[in-house]
Amino acid sequence: MAEQRISIHGQWTNRTVFILAATGSAVGLGNIWKFPYITGENGGGTFVLVYLLCIALIGIPIMMAEIMLGRRGKQSPINTMLTLARGEGRNPGWVWLGWMGVLAGFLILSYYSVIAGWAMSYVFRISGGMFLGVTADGANRIFTDLVTDPERLLAWHTIFMVITMMVVARGVKQGLEKAVTYLMPALFALLIVIVIYAMTTGYFMEGLRFLFTPGTIDGKGILIAMGHAFFTLSLGMGAIMVYGSYLSDEHSITQASMLIALADTVVALLAGMAIFPIVFAYGLEPGAGPGLIFRTLPIAFGHMPGGTMVGVLFFTLLVFAAWTSAISLIEPAVAYLVENKGLSRIYASVWIGAFTWFVGLGTVLSFNLWKDKTLTIPYVFEDLTFFDTLDYLTANIMLPLGGLFIALFAGWVMRKESTSEEIDTHPIIFKIWRFLVRFITPVAVIVVFLKAVGAI
Ligand code: PHE
Repeated sequence: MAEQRISIHGQWTNRTVFILAATGSAVGLGNIWKFPYITGENGGGTFVLVYLLCIALIGIPIMMAEIMLGRRGKQSPINTMLTLARGEGRNPGWVWLGWMGVLAGFLILSYYSVIAGWAMSYVFRISGGMFLGVTADGANRIFTDLVTDPERLLAWHTIFMVITMMVVARGVKQGLEKAVTYLMPALFALLIVIVIYAMTTGYFMEGLRFLFTPGTIDGKGILIAMGHAFFTLSLGMGAIMVYGSYLSDEHSITQASMLIALADTVVALLAGMAIFPIVFAYGLEPGAGPGLIFRTLPIAFGHMPGGTMVGVLFFTLLVFAAWTSAISLIEPAVAYLVENKGLSRIYASVWIGAFTWFVGLGTVLSFNLWKDKTLTIPYVFEDLTFFDTLDYLTANIMLPLGGLFIALFAGWVMRKESTSEEIDTHPIIFKIWRFLVRFITPVAVIVVFLKAVGAI
């Protein structure tokens, strides 16, 4: 029985800490760096709408399923899948789902760290006054100078990985609690300051129109919107599952999931409202790609009163947000090594960190020396760099696939009684959840996959 299992890695002190930690995992570069640039690349309104629908119909039910599985298994996702499959008298082969998650976590962290490195370097650039009164061209040049210099990217990537691994080595629960309690609200407040600045540009309505007026979208755009719903909520790879395994049994999973999804979505929308008015006010390209926030926000900081301070604080907090997400990307693997290989957390972190750092070199080079080494994925994309390929493979394929199988496991493999024991909300809410994970979520993911390759 689930009740008799306890996690060897300890437990969250209370439900609020769990919610904070899971929100820390969810809110990160995905909300502030990725959401605006993929929205820009995919034409705005309709993309945002599909993303919101995916959060509600796919994201929240899968988040509930992941927390439930973790809390019931009380181990790393790999061992949780094994234990639960056996407990239900099913095929232990489900363990591969845990392994795929671990792999996705490595791959995501390898590039996540490089982008977090950009944010770190911007803390110093802004504090040095580099952007005072800057023009759009100037901001562009500063960004290009950074990413075309592999040595600088390598240095920042290394620093970010070392710091992340030091925290992971000490255990997820220490330190994280404080970081999330104070820093997340501060990030939120600063985003609002930037949105207020965006209102003064005279292009605020244009920004809103871009974000919220429906237009057109293709199958590829729909896939990216769905992939992003998984990415931004940290779903489909075991991060939320492993955090769920440190949650004690008496807490409501439904409410927690809704709160986390809400906080995450609000941050993303605020980031969009901060960035697009600036994009239009300065005649920039919404589809400028992964550099979008680095090309736009510094212009705002260069022109608003107290902008240097706001900018330094903003990028510092962004680094913290990235860091609380990075920790959760690697926690499933660390928990597994501690459970099965008897490694200490310190050794586990060093090994995993070194491996991830190495894979990250590919992303470092994607923006300079390997810029022209590209790959084409039949039917879907052309000319992907190493970074694009990893991003595409993880966010748009591995996470949705992981989520699909998590939904199938929770909805079809586990007995109804097992799931209703964990999701002990109102019977109607339980019914809705079960219907969503059994039918809507799996069908939606499959339909989006088929549409992206043009099969329907
Ligand atoms: N949710 C994080 C973000 O939006 C990224 C992440 C993905 C973290 C998957 C953990 C697992 O930045």
